[in-house]
Amino acid sequence: MAILVTGGAGYIGSHTVLILLKYGIEVVILDNLCNASHKIINRLEKITNKKLIFIENNIVNRICLKNLFKKYDISTVMHFAALKSINDSLHQPLLYYSNNVTGTIILLEEMLSANIRNFIFSSSATVYGIDSPIPYCETNSIGHTTNPYSTSKLMIEFIIRDFVKVNPSFKAVALRYFNPVGAHESGELGENSTGVPNNLLPYIAQVALGRLKKLNIFGNNYNTPDGTAQRDYLHVIDLAEGHLNVLNHLPKIKGYKVYNFGSGKIFSVLEVIKIFEKISGKKILFEYKPRREGDLPSFWADTSLAKNELGWQAKRDIYTMIRDMWNWYIKNPNGLN
Ligand code: NAD
Ligand code: UD1
Repeated sequence: MAILVTGGAGYIGSHTVLILLKYGIEVVILDNLCNASHKIINRLEKITNKKLIFIENNIVNRICLKNLFKKYDISTVMHFAALKSINDSLHQPLLYYSNNVTGTIILLEEMLSANIRNFIFSSSATVYGIDSPIPYCETNSIGHTTNPYSTSKLMIEFIIRDFVKVNPSFKAVALRYFNPVGAHESGELGENSTGVPNNLLPYIAQVALGRLKKLNIFGNNYNTPDGTAQRDYLHVIDLAEGHLNVLNHLPKIKGYKVYNFGSGKIFSVLEVIKIFEKISGKKILFEYKPRREGDLPSFWADTSLAKNELGWQAKRDIYTMIRDMWNWYIKNPNGLN
């Protein structure tokens, strides 16, 4: 039996593949490399000393899925494949809905006809929208998303919920990730982003590498202790390991379940910069700019459900996250593309 990992060449998917392989679980990777490089697969093979099954194709390709499900004995699908840029989604909403939403529908349909019944979906804390009380708890209502990317995740959660209702032999888990950062401690695997980053830590790393002049801090007048926004950062390896907990817990799951995957701890932009400077020895120049549209002052996860039911909680602190991320950038200053 093997796990199909869609998007397994991407940032979170590749780290999860590593953890699955570490625990002797067989993996089939499906990725169209629209936001990844084949070199990630080579790196995975190098770290694990294993030959991987990698299929370069699109999740919307039914023929590919049919053949794949026929050829390999798949017990569970971990579905990471998606387009994930909030900004791009505002300019190309149809692309985001067709790739993320239609792609997931096709995947579920083909799983159903191949009699594969276990589904683990990468959702996002953004589904809580702009009005949700903090900390975010799985029982909070979801909605009021502000961009097509987040709405695509929201729609997929509703689709999975409704689909499982009428297919009771199905088990599906949506994991609402908070802010994943960091890299594998070897420095061989990390977030292989291209272009100017949108997210805070990859941007800081580019400033430290001298590629970007300074960081723009979006807002210093939030109602937070230092005026800058606070986030719940989570080490990508903790996140990857959490998928193993979900896998082990699947036999106990009935129907559709949702879990927050965060650390439950918050750090402000200024705190993150200070820690980064301490670890890297680099000075990060910054300038205050107006708030970024759609940004919230502060949010973090209520992590009790994942802890109580899955026995999972984040173990690595912000220093480890930043140390491992910086190690990845030092070793791969040009990325892998
Ligand atoms: P990523 O872009 O690094 O990985 C996604 C992978 O999916 C890429 O390798 C890409 O090539 C592949 N892909 C995209 N569309 C595809 C398609 N139609 N067919 C086949 N492959 C396809 O992103 P990531 O950061 O690893 O995110 C993984 C998942 O987690 C995504 O679903 C994302 O929405 C979700 N998520 C990410 C974050 C984050 O901050 N990184 C936060 C919350 C949720
Ligand atoms: C963003 C995404 C979210 C995704 C998450 C993790 C948005 C609106 N949301 O959330 O969907 O799940 O990343 O990948 O993009 N900041 C700066 N300067 C920068 C970059 C960021 O000041 O150059 C600030 C932001 O205003 C924010 C904080 O740093 O307050 C964290 O930003 P970011 O890393 O982009 O994460 P989120 O905004 O939480």
